[in-house]
Amino acid sequence: MTKRDFLSAADLSRDELENLLELAQRSRGKRASQVLAGKTLALLFFDRSLRTRVSFEVAAVQLGGHVINVFADRELYDLEPEERIVMDGRAEEHVKDAARTLSRYCDGLGIRHLGHTGSWERDRQEVLLRSYARYASVPVVNLESAVEHPCQAIADAMTMQAQLTRLSGRRLSIVWTNNPEPKNIGPCHSLLRVAGMLGMSITLCHPLGFEPEAEVVASAAKDAQAHGGSLRVVNSLDDGVRDAEVVYTRSWGSPKYWEDQERETIVKRSLQTWIIDEAAMAKTRNAIFMHPLPVRRGVGATDGVLDGPRSLIYDQAENRVHAQKALLTHLLG
Ligand code: CP
Repeated sequence: MTKRDFLSAADLSRDELENLLELAQRSRGKRASQVLAGKTLALLFFDRSLRTRVSFEVAAVQLGGHVINVFADRELYDLEPEERIVMDGRAEEHVKDAARTLSRYCDGLGIRHLGHTGSWERDRQEVLLRSYARYASVPVVNLESAVEHPCQAIADAMTMQAQLTRLSGRRLSIVWTNNPEPKNIGPCHSLLRVAGMLGMSITLCHPLGFEPEAEVVASAAKDAQAHGGSLRVVNSLDDGVRDAEVVYTRSWGSPKYWEDQERETIVKRSLQTWIIDEAAMAKTRNAIFMHPLPVRRGVGATDGVLDGPRSLIYDQAENRVHAQKALLTHLLG
């Protein structure tokens, strides 16, 4: 039997996505079936995490599985992903050997590796994640890379569906907000893919210079159109939130400025009005408010919005558990 990895939201067909969402909704509040009994997952975190780490462990334990968390940046040997190389540098172990060894111990691997090489061309190739997937004989799940955060996007879709029931044609605005740090673009890319597959009417809103990957936007637009939705891009916050039914905010670092963070910091000085406040929410169709967290309060969104009656930020965080139970059942059950 060939193993299934989950590295990108694009790895799911629309039918598979809909089945996962149905399974995730059904699993809420119910005792989970013990499909992971006797199975072990290793979760390798090369970057910090609160929600992904804890929600994955909770999901696996609720399914009867066992989880080993590894803080990979300080607990593992430095890894070499390149092929046919003389390893006389810093790296003490090849990804090939680590992945094949872990496959003898575990039934699945999760990997968070954001990259941060300083080169967008390199980071966007997700070299470490894809090397693990290539060499592991067990399923590998992307727990967030430089390019995608597909587990987050399933939980986001589940959260929207619980609130709006039917997602086809519903008006989702994905809105860039300011942040002193260049945040990862993965949640935006994965949500674009998932919302496109579900036929939502997507407004992608960001300042000029903060364009997501053109291939992801084009693919989401094509999918959205094929399933009764649409995708438009706007460059003003007012246009972005107007008449939205869902306002989904997240900051992301610009691929354009990836190699020149000083330039991005200077550009962002004039973008401090890119915050979701009560005035922005008043322009929507009584939209629900979503953010994958962590959020800088008073920078990405105001306390009034984050703590307001239309905010679903903790539902999103909780739904990570249910969505990942469905995913783990799909991949390993
Ligand atoms: N949303 C999310 O992935 O949160 P963490 O970075 O805390 O895992």
